[in-house]
Amino acid sequence: MKLTVVGGGSTYTPELIDGFARLRDTLPLTELVLVDPAADRLDLVGGLARRIFAKQDHEGKITTTSDLDAGVEGADAVLLQLRVGGQAAREQDETWPLECGCVGQETTGAGGLAKALRTVPVVLDIAERVRRANPDAWIIDFTNPVGIVTRALLQAGHKAVGLCNVAIGFQRKFAGLLGVAPSEVHLDHVGLNHLTWERAVRVGGPEGENVLPRLLAEHGDAIADDLRLPRPVLDRLGVVPSYYLRYFYAHDEVVRELGTKPSRAAEVAAMEKELLEMYGDPALDEKPALLGKRGGAFYSEAAVDLAASLLGGGGSPYQVVNTYNNGTLPFLPDDAVIETQAAVGAHGAAPLPVAPLDPLYAGLVANVTAYEALALEAALRGGRDRVFKALLAHPLVGQYAYADGLTDRLIAHNREHLAWA
Ligand code: G6P
Ligand code: MN
Repeated sequence: MKLTVVGGGSTYTPELIDGFARLRDTLPLTELVLVDPAADRLDLVGGLARRIFAKQDHEGKITTTSDLDAGVEGADAVLLQLRVGGQAAREQDETWPLECGCVGQETTGAGGLAKALRTVPVVLDIAERVRRANPDAWIIDFTNPVGIVTRALLQAGHKAVGLCNVAIGFQRKFAGLLGVAPSEVHLDHVGLNHLTWERAVRVGGPEGENVLPRLLAEHGDAIADDLRLPRPVLDRLGVVPSYYLRYFYAHDEVVRELGTKPSRAAEVAAMEKELLEMYGDPALDEKPALLGKRGGAFYSEAAVDLAASLLGGGGSPYQVVNTYNNGTLPFLPDDAVIETQAAVGAHGAAPLPVAPLDPLYAGLVANVTAYEALALEAALRGGRDRVFKALLAHPLVGQYAYADGLTDRLIAHNREHLAWA
């Protein structure tokens, strides 16, 4: 089984490699290709990747290349984990929206739109080249904003599934609190990528007992602390929102907070520098603990599980993925991309039926879905007006003066990445 990672020079890659090594029975890789335009990073990351495999007696071959077409040749699955413009572009996304009193975040709000505009054309070009090399290959998209990027891929007819680690993070967390194996925990996870709620936590599968009320009663403080939301909010809702909901439920508080501290991009850039130095040490043969400070916990396990199922192997039967709505949430268009539990196999991902969504959440989901459709239009066709409309439609923007101010800034900061600007 051959897998290619585009963006393989990412400092995240050792997390992935560690998962491939530990979970080789689930996903028996014979060949892994790391593709990245940055040859220097590839050397460092590729070297460590080989040492991790060797230490764990994994016989899979790891190669590196900056030639995308060569790298995807013969791949059964291609994992996309790239970041157009690197942490420098992310730093911008996190900064200029604050000038307008809006949240600065890499996937939410105006910053997320900027990222979508930079990313969609690049990902579509890569996907085209994957299809040319092997029309049967699966594309697993971890590249943010995952909802919009996955919609772009599916709309262009690609064999793609979008992936995020928020759900697996909750699954692991709740399993730990309950003292059961993660595979025993089935989440009623619903919404859009980075806009989800856990409405039930079932033990033993989709029909198992819902232990969420008990989890909230016994561990509500710890869960609320992790999300940085007040415990009474969780108690009143009776559901667990993802930490990205804080950008909505505590928007103004977050804006004030972001104005007083270094950006996450700056923090991550500093970590990346340190990590790359570590990766260059020939004595290092495991993923360093510092990687745990990144947001991608359990990403490798989610990726292995998904790839294994798509390639006909032994992944979990139900997984939380991003795919077409197709009537699952009846108030959304079929071609909206939702993040939900799906039956995953060689055919792809088919969402499980979802209980009706409370208007408290459905309103926001519908609103952000409309924004995502307009954001994709702007990413595909360009133009100031399309950017403005996407921002006007976003629930965290909404007013024309904000939308205008943000549009000007978005274009000014991203000109080099936008063919039309
Ligand atoms: C979580 C999200 C990812 C995001 C990451 C950011 O894992 O699900 O979509 O890329 O956090 O983590 P970072 O360490 O880059 O801030
Ligand atoms: Mn994510």
